[in-house]
Amino acid sequence: MNNSLNREDSLEEDPRIVEARKLIREAVADHVIRIDCVRPPDHSLQESYDQLLKQFGELRGGGLYYRYLGSGLGNGALVELVDGSVKYDMISGIGVHIYGHTHIGMIDELVQAAISDTVMQGNLQQNLDSLRLCDDLVRIARSSGSGLEHCFLSTSGATANENALKMMFQKKHPADRMLTFRNSFSGRTMALAQLTDRPKNREGLPTTLSVDYIPFFDNDQPAQSTKASLAALSEHLHRYPESHAGMCLELIQGEGGYYSAPREFFIALFDVLREHDIPIWIDEVQTFGRTSRMFAFQHLELDEYVDVVTLGKMSQVCATLFTKDLKARPGLVSQTFTGATSSIRAAQFILKQFCEGNYLGENGRTLQIHNRFVQHFERLHAENPNSIRGPWGIGGMVAFTVFDGSAERTKDFLNRLFEAGVIAFPAGAEPTRVRMLPPLLVMLDKDIDAVCGLIENVLTESRFSPDLP
Ligand SMILES: Cc1ncc(COP(=O)(O)O)c(C=O)c1O
Repeated sequence: MNNSLNREDSLEEDPRIVEARKLIREAVADHVIRIDCVRPPDHSLQESYDQLLKQFGELRGGGLYYRYLGSGLGNGALVELVDGSVKYDMISGIGVHIYGHTHIGMIDELVQAAISDTVMQGNLQQNLDSLRLCDDLVRIARSSGSGLEHCFLSTSGATANENALKMMFQKKHPADRMLTFRNSFSGRTMALAQLTDRPKNREGLPTTLSVDYIPFFDNDQPAQSTKASLAALSEHLHRYPESHAGMCLELIQGEGGYYSAPREFFIALFDVLREHDIPIWIDEVQTFGRTSRMFAFQHLELDEYVDVVTLGKMSQVCATLFTKDLKARPGLVSQTFTGATSSIRAAQFILKQFCEGNYLGENGRTLQIHNRFVQHFERLHAENPNSIRGPWGIGGMVAFTVFDGSAERTKDFLNRLFEAGVIAFPAGAEPTRVRMLPPLLVMLDKDIDAVCGLIENVLTESRFSPDLP
């Protein structure tokens, strides 16, 4: 992807750069080839590895969730750790490494970012790549009818969400409340910790935002739960008239446990919000690029309802997309960094692959990957219904519940799975679920089969283990 206006004499097209890139691609290919299957740790490295993990835990003021310290090398969905082990990375930095590890095409793209004039781009001085990325994101977001016209880049999902929040409050001033769903997750700033429905995430923090919660859809009682959600919304609107600046929601609850709802459920609520002139903000920080379309609001055909959409994780650069109506007045949103040149180039490379490759659509690769996981899970469930059960998540957000779904039992399962060579992560509570965000752009069928084989082994081992928590 060339980002200079004049191709012929650009630095990127200089024959020395072209030759250097070729040599880099060849060298990388020679090094990654040996990472071809799951491997246990090298025992001779154990002591020094333990030391490094201990040092890291001390430096950051708290231990890491897993004994994970990457070596900086991987191959597709496999990643190598400093202890010499190789594992399937089924969590991808919680949805970030959509191209897996040490992807040659991505490295080639990033070499071009490395020879760019600056490391970081920000609001004062943006390069052409930032413009192109904003243009791509708005074009994709509008492709099936949304009114999103503007794009503001940022470096984290939380910042994209803070920007959304500020735009909505400014627009709806003096409204001072927000609506969201129960079990929502929005990020970890002072304001987002209030929006997030998890008391432990705001332990000790002052209240910065007044939030009203609405129960999410319950798949076991569709009609009843829709009625209950509508009743809760109506109650909040009645109790605090003209006080809500917007509703923030995830169409597929991520940290909440990978639950979704049918289009009709959202439309029922959105119609009420529209009646009350309350803007609708869809948080797609986790869902972006994980369904049959780039945006989950497109997957659910809710384009006409969206006023603000935030995205992040697999896009490498985060963004707030918004309609003309929600444009902020000068001074409200700005950042020194809106993205590293390498992240911006990576984002463009990823979007191109999704949109031009065979990933989207009902028969696209993303849903094929999901279906293959589900086939394995259904078989495991049929053999041992008490070991593993659904729901299995949506698209590239794969999930399941093991045993009784208690936090302790699930953590024990995840640790065993990690030792066996698969990295996954928990989500939700009561039940605590196992979730996976596979690197969709490199996942092969044989990877899915190998991962599910390891899940099966660990389920069997856990079932018969005498020392379960
Ligand atoms: C739905 C949702 N919103 C916001 C965030 C916050 O993103 P970040 O961790 O990049 O600040 C997350 C992160 O998990 C998320 O899942």
